[in-house]
Amino acid sequence: MTAASDIGAQSYGELDLTTMLAAPIAFAPMSNSLFEPLTLRGITLRNRIGVSPMCMYSSDDGFANDWHLVHLGQFAVGRAALVITEATAVLPEGRISPQDLGIWKDEHVEFLARIGRFVKSQGAVFGSQLAHAGRKASTIRPWDGGGPATETLGGWANLPAPSALAFAAQYQTPVAIDTVGIGRVVNGFRDAARRALAADMEIVEIHAAHGYLLHQFLSPLSNTRIDNYGGSFENRIRLVRDVVHAIREVWPERLPLAVRLSATDWTEGGWNPEETVELSRILKGDGVDLIDVSTGGNVAAAKIPAGPGYQVEFAARVKREADITTASVGLITSPHQADTIVRTGQADVTLLGRELLREPHWPLRAARELHRDIAWPPQYERAKLR
Ligand SMILES: Cc1cc2nc3c(=O)[nH]c(=O)nc-3n(C[C@H](O)[C@H](O)[C@H](O)COP(=O)(O)O)c2cc1C
Repeated sequence: MTAASDIGAQSYGELDLTTMLAAPIAFAPMSNSLFEPLTLRGITLRNRIGVSPMCMYSSDDGFANDWHLVHLGQFAVGRAALVITEATAVLPEGRISPQDLGIWKDEHVEFLARIGRFVKSQGAVFGSQLAHAGRKASTIRPWDGGGPATETLGGWANLPAPSALAFAAQYQTPVAIDTVGIGRVVNGFRDAARRALAADMEIVEIHAAHGYLLHQFLSPLSNTRIDNYGGSFENRIRLVRDVVHAIREVWPERLPLAVRLSATDWTEGGWNPEETVELSRILKGDGVDLIDVSTGGNVAAAKIPAGPGYQVEFAARVKREADITTASVGLITSPHQADTIVRTGQADVTLLGRELLREPHWPLRAARELHRDIAWPPQYERAKLR
């Protein structure tokens, strides 16, 4: 596992402006802007800026700790509207690395709730990205070298996946899970959502992107099953829908549910934008409120034309054709860029990853640049330029 593969891409290559400029863009009436609130079921985001989920590889036995409190807390201080945890493992074997954050046991709830209390005290909505890494589990965290972790390196074997197909040459060959294994995954997600609720979280996002377990089921390149979880589109989307249904059994009506999808595998014969739109339509009917639209991560050799806002066109298409609230992510760095995405109706929410690591209080600067007078934390008022 490298940092690059973890951001949905295998590598951020050269900019392909032709691809970006050729992107079909539908303009909705200019109305909302980056600092307009957004209501999703019973919660309201104070603006359209969210923290994209980012692995911190800093947990012991899945527990959140002071690192997570300060790391996530700083974004709420900086006036992001939505603060969402990194990929949080619903089962221990679903961790990307041994140091991943987890929510597979009740003991994990207490510290997550503590983080939530602080985030909420700052006026932001707190949530979790629920995840299972499937065949991309058991890797060494990036700063310890990255790549697959064998058992001698602290990893684990028998990685569950739709089919016994390794992600890449040096990765472990996973085990094709049977119906008992599928039941374990579905129950894992349901129990995790119950714990997220116990931690007072107000949104959960199901991670079905970036080549992790649920995406592995979606893509015919990683799913060659011949049972009712493989083959046809209806069969490949079955596990994601099972997970959504299971979570909705315990996740209250008043709270929103999001799903992160990779809109394309960037590879011929892989999961594609048409399927993403169709799945989004179906998920809306299943009780999903927001699709967080990313791309890539399931094919090690895929060539990704990364550049500023390179995934916006996919969010715009899902929003337009599936008529569902969307979040856009990926190389969104400037306030005017983010504001334009929302104003032109290409996405309802912008999620920032690395730019918020560089500048955790980015929303305060964005407000200034966009001439919006937003409330600063009173403790920081004396630093506000007028
Ligand atoms: C350090 C780091 C960790 C990440 N971990 C996750 C993760 O846990 N879950 C996820 O869906 N995406 C993860 N990503 C991808 C980001 O959420 C985001 O989609 C990607 O970085 C592109 O947005 P950006 O250009 O604003 O950084 C990670 C990215 C970074 C940089």
